[in-house]
Amino acid sequence: MDRVLIVDDEKGMRDFLSIMLKKEGYAVVASESADKASELVGKGEFDLVISDIAMPGKSGIEILKQTKAANPDTPVIMITAYASTESAIEALKLGAYDYIIKPFDVEEMKTVVRNAIEKRRLENENRALKRELKEKLRFDEMIGDSPRMREVFDLIAKIAPTNSTVLISGESGTGKELVARAIHAKSPCKDRPFVSINCGALPDELLESELFGHARGSFTGAVTAKKGLFEVADGGTIFLDEIGDTTPAMQIKLLRVLQERRIRRVGGTDEIEVNVRVLAATNHDLEQLVRQKRFREDLYYRINVIQIRMPALREKPEDIPKLALHFLVKYGRIMGKKITRISEEAMRRLTDHDWPGNVRELENVIERAVALEATDAITADSLSREVRSGGRPAPEFAIVLSDGGIDLERQLERLREHYMEEALRRAQGIQTRAAEILGMSFRSFRYFAKKYRLTDRKEARANVG
Ligand SMILES: Nc1ncnc2c1ncn2[C@@H]1O[C@H](COP(=O)(O)OP(=O)(O)OP(=O)(O)O)[C@@H](O)[C@H]1O
Ligand SMILES: [Mg+2]
Repeated sequence: MDRVLIVDDEKGMRDFLSIMLKKEGYAVVASESADKASELVGKGEFDLVISDIAMPGKSGIEILKQTKAANPDTPVIMITAYASTESAIEALKLGAYDYIIKPFDVEEMKTVVRNAIEKRRLENENRALKRELKEKLRFDEMIGDSPRMREVFDLIAKIAPTNSTVLISGESGTGKELVARAIHAKSPCKDRPFVSINCGALPDELLESELFGHARGSFTGAVTAKKGLFEVADGGTIFLDEIGDTTPAMQIKLLRVLQERRIRRVGGTDEIEVNVRVLAATNHDLEQLVRQKRFREDLYYRINVIQIRMPALREKPEDIPKLALHFLVKYGRIMGKKITRISEEAMRRLTDHDWPGNVRELENVIERAVALEATDAITADSLSREVRSGGRPAPEFAIVLSDGGIDLERQLERLREHYMEEALRRAQGIQTRAAEILGMSFRSFRYFAKKYRLTDRKEARANVG
């Protein structure tokens, strides 16, 4: 049942709207002031909010703002007493779905309400479908045939059938979660649940109750008993993501589970046996955390039975073209666009880039390019700015010694020019800083900058942009 909140200081109006909307099949909550409604709205539990604009105390505009802050998808209909009010227009600007002028026609109100709720439903559905599609494509396949990735695939194939605990380490965006899912998918327990939890994202009490569950009445709000993820994953796999971010208190609790393979729900008395495969991931250097006494050594040895180290993207540049095309197909499908190629220039930029954010960053760049591209090929222009300007020197600086020989001085000049241009870009045009980046004196930087007309060039570009 769709839930509607009515905010109006006039009792007559509240009652009238309540009765009408209940008859229409909505669950209705009515509030006599914006102050009282604030609390309700903050929880974001309504499918529609209808609010009078002018009320004593806080105005309906406040309610509108709060509703949108709590949940931007909730439509808000404003009621106003005057035919042409500035506040009604303001409300629309602030994201109100529509406004209705008092006195209004019952049918008109019904229609506006119905449309608002229908629009929200469609939007939700759309989003859910997109998410589903994204999820589905997301774990389709792991791409890579670089030596480093082959090692990873071999290791996955070897350890998937075992029950060993695995530590997956690597920088952010290198595919750690993908590996965890692959291990589960290739294991004998593949038809049992795979549950994943980000241990770094929750405060201890919540994390504990998520992992181990809680008994009824164990804390305020625990009206029913709840299974924790260790129980939910029974017979399957639990993936403890960002395990390096856990607190010492949590680490002791995890150690106990790993040793005893039993858990106790928060506030509970019974020990429950769990039969789960544990996979853990971290983008920290856990050994270092152990040395710094920030991660328990005994827990480290428990989880580091087998370690899979995910290479950073810059360590496997030969995989970039394949990955890029994989994401091109994926986002082309999601966005319903027929983009079939990546231009040579664009691909060169992609393979030359440094990729601090690894595969996820590459994926985001391609997703964005697919969204922006109007032709059937991704061009260098539709890559994001960072990638477009490239990191390493272009291949024209590659060492190619043709039979006819080269003009070394000229090549060196070009190399200097290129680095200076790049340094200027990084330094946002500040020459002293650019000189510093290159370890040059400011005097010689200024001399060469003039010679190559680097600063003129920058201005010319700025004018165009
Ligand atoms: N080898 C690969 N083939 C295809 N897609 C990949 C590959 N590696 C990573 N990805 C994609 O890159 C994105 C990031 O991967 P994932 O979430 O597994 O990284 P992560 O290491 O867990 O990152 P974080 O540490 O930030 O959580 C995902 O969308 C994933 O599908
Ligand atoms: Mg991850």
